[in-house]
Amino acid sequence: MAATDTSWALVTGASSGIGVEFARLLAERGYPVALSARREDRLRTLAAELESRHGVPTQVLPCDLAEPGAAESLWEQVQRAGLHVNVLVNNAGFGDNGPFAEAEWARMQDMLQLNIVALTALSRFALPAMRARRQGYILNVASVAAFQPGPGMAVYFATKAYVLSFTEALWAELQGSGVVATTLCPGPTQSEFFDAAQMSGKSLASQKLPSSREVAQAGLRALFAGKRTVIHGLVNNLLAFFSNRLAPRGAVLSITRRMLE
Ligand SMILES: NC(=O)c1ccc[n+]([C@@H]2O[C@H](COP(=O)([O-])OP(=O)(O)OC[C@H]3O[C@@H](n4cnc5c(N)ncnc54)[C@H](OP(=O)(O)O)[C@@H]3O)[C@@H](O)[C@H]2O)c1
Repeated sequence: MAATDTSWALVTGASSGIGVEFARLLAERGYPVALSARREDRLRTLAAELESRHGVPTQVLPCDLAEPGAAESLWEQVQRAGLHVNVLVNNAGFGDNGPFAEAEWARMQDMLQLNIVALTALSRFALPAMRARRQGYILNVASVAAFQPGPGMAVYFATKAYVLSFTEALWAELQGSGVVATTLCPGPTQSEFFDAAQMSGKSLASQKLPSSREVAQAGLRALFAGKRTVIHGLVNNLLAFFSNRLAPRGAVLSITRRMLE
């Protein structure tokens, strides 16, 4: 789907990894792009690149979406700037590694606020205008972590299970409305995710991983085709099918625990 003059794409988590590639791919399609994350310098550099390479207008909307009320402030900024958001990509998110009993509570709160609350709030704020225009696209980034519990990353896996459940329900509610809500479930992907999750030394992080661009492409292709959910990569599809449909929950728990070690 190509952009029209007045329709904007809003990408959260646009300062690194998969979010940067969403922004680049949307600009390649001609979308004016609003970029949000905390690291404003990176957003400004990306905005300049998109304007010069693709000739699209951009907006830089720095925001810490882990702060309570931040999604509301971001949406106010969007409205003050007069942006009509036709594509919302809720991509910002982070994980954390280690036993829950030892986790820093403030970090867990931030994760719940960012991965769940901000994503839900922005979906809610964007929907009325999309429904009124009978056109709009919401892409929520979950993970293959959504398909099973994750001992060692218990809160992160649970947040992604929420994103999958919420967005699939939304997809069904929106049937016939002209608006699509799609869930993207990446597997391990090249980005800053493993550093942020303090997992750089883990075997998962040292394998040959797909690029952020491939994953973002898969997400946007599914979104513009109106798909409910896309899992990136054959192996990830097989693992999700196995975890969800075939294996006993106890076996899935021990396999996932071993994979995260
Ligand atoms: N890479 C993987 O292996 C993988 C696998 C499955 C799912 N995912 C999901 O893919 C999405 C993108 O992650 P990525 O892999 O591209 O990792 P990344 O390179 O670490 O990017 C994460 C993005 O989220 C933003 N972010 C983090 N905390 C934020 C906050 N408090 N407020 C606003 N923005 C915040 C970061 O920007 P600032 O730090 O500048 O704020 C950054 O732009 C996440 O939802 C992640 O859970 C990743």
